[in-house]
Amino acid sequence: MALLPILRFPDSRLRTKAAPVDVIDEGIRQLVRDMAETMYAASGIGLAATQVNIHKRIAVIDVSEDRKGLLALINAQIIERAGECDSEEGCLSVPGVRETIRRAEWIKLRALDMNAKPFELEADGLLAICIQHELDHLDGKVFVEYLSRLKLNRIKTRLIKQAQEDKDKDTAIA
Ligand code: NI
Repeated sequence: MALLPILRFPDSRLRTKAAPVDVIDEGIRQLVRDMAETMYAASGIGLAATQVNIHKRIAVIDVSEDRKGLLALINAQIIERAGECDSEEGCLSVPGVRETIRRAEWIKLRALDMNAKPFELEADGLLAICIQHELDHLDGKVFVEYLSRLKLNRIKTRLIKQAQEDKDKDTAIA
C-alpha cells in the first residue's frame, strides 16, 4: 500500500481528461487500493485518479459514517440525471475552500467494479454529489471552475500564495 501525492489546484495537470481503463488487472486493483488509502488518510469522501496524476477513469468514494463503504468506480458514466440542488463542496485538491455550486439531485450511473463486472447505481444526496464531483475531475474539471471568474481568481491567488508559503516553510525546516 502507498500514499499517493495529491495535485493541488491550479496545477494544470488537473485539467487532463482521463482515458478509459482497457484491462482491469492487478496493477489497476493496486492503484484502487492506494487511492482508497490516500483518500482515507486525507479524510476525504472521494478521490479521482486525476488528482494523483494518473489519467485513467478511476474514482474511489466513501460517504459512509463508519468509513467502511468503499465504492470503486471504473469507466463510470452518468446515464441519467434529474433535478437540481445547491451543493456545498470542498476538494482535497483545493484545500481550505468550500463553495456552493449547482448539481443534479439524482443520477443513474453505469460503471465497472474491481472485477470488471458492469453495474448500475442510482444515487441521490451526498453520494450523487460526490459522484458528479469525482467524474468532473476525470474530465479535467475542478468544482471551483463552476464559480464566477472573480471568485475563481481569488481562490487561485490564495492557493498559489499558500503553496509558496508551504514551500518556504519546508525549506526552512529542511
Ligand atoms: Ni475533488
